[in-house]
Amino acid sequence: MRNPIISILNLSLSFDDRTVLKDLSFDILKGESLVILGGSGSGKSVLTKTIIGLLVPDSGSVKINSKSKNKFGVLFQNSALFDYVTVWENISFNYKKRFNISKKEAKQLAIEKLNDVGLEESIADMFPIELSGGMKKRVALARAIAHNPEIIILDEPTSGLDPIMSDIVNEIIVKLSRDLNPTIITITHDIHSAFKIADKIAVLYEGEIISHGTVQEIQNTNNEYIKKFIRYIR
Ligand SMILES: Nc1ncnc2c1ncn2[C@@H]1O[C@H](COP(=O)(O)OP(=O)(O)O)[C@@H](O)[C@H]1O
Ligand SMILES: [Mg+2]
Repeated sequence: MRNPIISILNLSLSFDDRTVLKDLSFDILKGESLVILGGSGSGKSVLTKTIIGLLVPDSGSVKINSKSKNKFGVLFQNSALFDYVTVWENISFNYKKRFNISKKEAKQLAIEKLNDVGLEESIADMFPIELSGGMKKRVALARAIAHNPEIIILDEPTSGLDPIMSDIVNEIIVKLSRDLNPTIITITHDIHSAFKIADKIAVLYEGEIISHGTVQEIQNTNNEYIKKFIRYIR
């Protein structure tokens, strides 16, 4: 049995009178690629923000079993690149200070990360506004992985992308998982992407995990909501 790197226990969170997370409990194992699948407004982004400590739950706990200095690498929903700095400076944001390296080395490392996500060195000096949606997502992905974090969190890495670009991003995530074996938590409502990149899938519905299992278990489920979700891609 692998150890959980994240243990979520009885987690609840409300905004005013709206309960968004309802008594969630589940473990995420070290090295696992977990997809949290759910419709829009189901609490996916709130859950990720709670995991990384940006939101404080009303009750329950998130325990992170990691001593690493580089615990988290996060791709926030809508990429959230810094508009006024170049692509390479966006990517180096997480490691430039931390690794104590020169500007030249930082840029070289950013270029390597661009290569890792299938982008050309020539875009290193461009600004985010000059990039297509798919390129922005990949730059945000490069930034999320640049400091070799133990846990990578990707909030809707394929949303807004056409199917071909979505598949390129899926492939990058699969390769990342295979080659570096980090723990990856991907948030999505894209079931095609979920089936491609996940070891395990947790289905979030109105703030509750209604199903948690391997891809095969989710594909063979009898749960009507999940079956409806799956039918959309057929
Ligand atoms: N900071 C906030 N203040 C109040 N309500 C919020 C806040 N963040 C999210 N919500 C609400 O919580 C619910 C879940 O949001 P979210 O986690 O962003 O959904 P999604 O699954 O689409 O990522 C939504 O109803 C949203 O309006
Ligand atoms: Mg969201």
